[in-house]
Amino acid sequence: MHATISDLITDLVHNSIEANAKEITLNVEETETNLKVVIQDNGKGMSAETLEKAKDPFWSDGKHEHRKVGLGLPFLFQTSEMTGGSAEIETKEGTGTTVTFNLDPQNVDLPMFGNFVSTAVSLMTYGFEGNLTIEHSRNRKNYSVSKNELTDALGNLNDMENMILLKQFIESNEKELR
Ligand SMILES: Nc1ncnc2c1ncn2[C@@H]1O[C@H](COP(=O)(O)OP(=O)(O)OP(=O)(O)O)[C@@H](O)[C@H]1O
Ligand SMILES: [Mg+2]
Repeated sequence: MHATISDLITDLVHNSIEANAKEITLNVEETETNLKVVIQDNGKGMSAETLEKAKDPFWSDGKHEHRKVGLGLPFLFQTSEMTGGSAEIETKEGTGTTVTFNLDPQNVDLPMFGNFVSTAVSLMTYGFEGNLTIEHSRNRKNYSVSKNELTDALGNLNDMENMILLKQFIESNEKELR
């Protein structure tokens, strides 16, 4: 099962990648009293019927050959229900999907946030065609990085040296938010 909010975010971005999105935006907005995450993609979207099924932990669209269970969205709904948060999905077939959730960072039942630096690095270096933009804000401070900008500046993000630079870059941006 998922351990952290960062794992949940990874799963939701992977859903966007699996939906063939070419443009994905991950926005994480933290204040003392609220954690808001928005994942927006221009992938294949879902019909109303698919969206209903997607909330069921015992349904998956067949992309996993050996497993029928999908856990990304059910885990999101379970977490938000358990902690008095909210989660919503806006989606249109052929256009894209936006997943938004708000959670109370002070709720004792909330999973740990996890390691956001390694989440961001692995999402940025995950081999998919499209662009990914990550925006992170805490209280009044924020930063934004996009895969296209990083690739222009560094070249192939999967080169070992570039991965190290990327990790340092995200770490230093994260430090600024403290
Ligand atoms: N961003 C999205 N765009 C289009 N369809 C989506 C998106 N997110 C989820 N879905 C649909 O909802 C289904 C359920 O998603 P969920 O993440 O819960 O399970 P899964 O992706 O099938 O399996 P797993 O997450 O375990 O790999 C997906 O199979 C897919 O059909
Ligand atoms: Mg999934």
